[in-house]
Amino acid sequence: MRLAVCAAALLAALAASPAALALGDADKGAKLHEACLQCHGTNVYVPRKANVKTFKQLQAETAKWCDYYNPKFSKLEVADLVAWLNREFYKFPEK
Ligand code: HEC
Repeated sequence: MRLAVCAAALLAALAASPAALALGDADKGAKLHEACLQCHGTNVYVPRKANVKTFKQLQAETAKWCDYYNPKFSKLEVADLVAWLNREFYKFPEK
């Protein structure tokens, strides 16, 4: 019984963690990103200038900016954006 409760808590934690967003579709992300260009170009993603230093940070930062929009981007769309940003600019190991 106690084990079952732990497993349920672990699953809930996994579902809520940014790691659950890891596998996005970069090509879809590229399209979605057109909406982000109203404030900044892609120059803020260039490593020399970028403040984001890890894949986790990239997920958190992208989710934050996606919250700015109303209606919010879906979790899947956030994952797509992260995948595209990472493929084109950040190139972090995905984990
Ligand atoms: C309301 C204006 C605004 C919108 C809309 C916006 N951003 Fe940003 N974003 C900013 C500002 C300001 C910064 C900080 C720029 C800097 O550090 O020079 C930033 C920084 C970022 C960074 C961190 C860059 C780094 O490595 O330092 C990421 C990633 C990012 N935005 C992604 C997005 C994505 C994805 C979207 C679309 C869902 C988006 N932003 C939409 C204003 C915006």
